[in-house]
Amino acid sequence: MNFENLRDLMIENRTVRRFNQSRAVDYDILVKLVELTRCCPSGRNAQPLRYRLVTSTEEKAKVFPLLKWAGYFKDWDGPSEGERPTAYIVQCLDTAFGSNCLCDDGLQLEAITLGMHTMGLGGCIIKAFNVVELSRVLELNEQYVPRYVPRYVLALGYPAEKVKIEEMSGSPDADFKYFRTPDGIHHVPKRPLSELILPHR
Ligand SMILES: Cc1cc2nc3c(=O)[nH]c(=O)nc-3n(C[C@H](O)[C@H](O)[C@H](O)COP(=O)(O)O)c2cc1C
Repeated sequence: MNFENLRDLMIENRTVRRFNQSRAVDYDILVKLVELTRCCPSGRNAQPLRYRLVTSTEEKAKVFPLLKWAGYFKDWDGPSEGERPTAYIVQCLDTAFGSNCLCDDGLQLEAITLGMHTMGLGGCIIKAFNVVELSRVLELNEQYVPRYVPRYVLALGYPAEKVKIEEMSGSPDADFKYFRTPDGIHHVPKRPLSELILPHR
């Protein structure tokens, strides 16, 4: 692995929201992905995040309606039958360690999605979901003891859509909304490097 390999992996590791629903993701694969999180940095090294893995048809059917997809696409309710995720990784905070996980959640999600990409998988990190209902349908907690709080749902599967990075203009009011073209390709604008580095005063 050199810098160029890592950069290519990160360029290719795009959010995917449509999947080949006929191709299952094995539970063991999800376990391997979670194993990557053990290597991540952790504030105070407390490592307060836990994962609930979802692969059964019954549980997937309960999770899917609780998720909100692609907020910018007002006329799209998310992947239709046949292109839905084939697994979910639910990242939970163990509140026995406190109510804050600093940036552990994001670091671990990036590790998992990079790992997914190396396996030919794709997915979508989802924050817009019904936390209470998700906790209930997955029976995350003992009754009256709300210890594990879901922070993110990672929906995944084998991708059935193409995603392309678009260069954004350097203008501060440039449009950052992702969009889809009639050929079905999903486009994601990314800011130019020149905008990211502040000038010396
Ligand atoms: C913290 C966070 C929350 C997100 N929540 C959602 C969500 O609720 N629903 C969704 O469809 N996508 C969600 N996404 C995916 C973003 O829309 C996606 O990362 C963004 O459009 C950039 O695309 P890229 O991941 O290919 O760079 C989320 C991503 C992050 C990092």
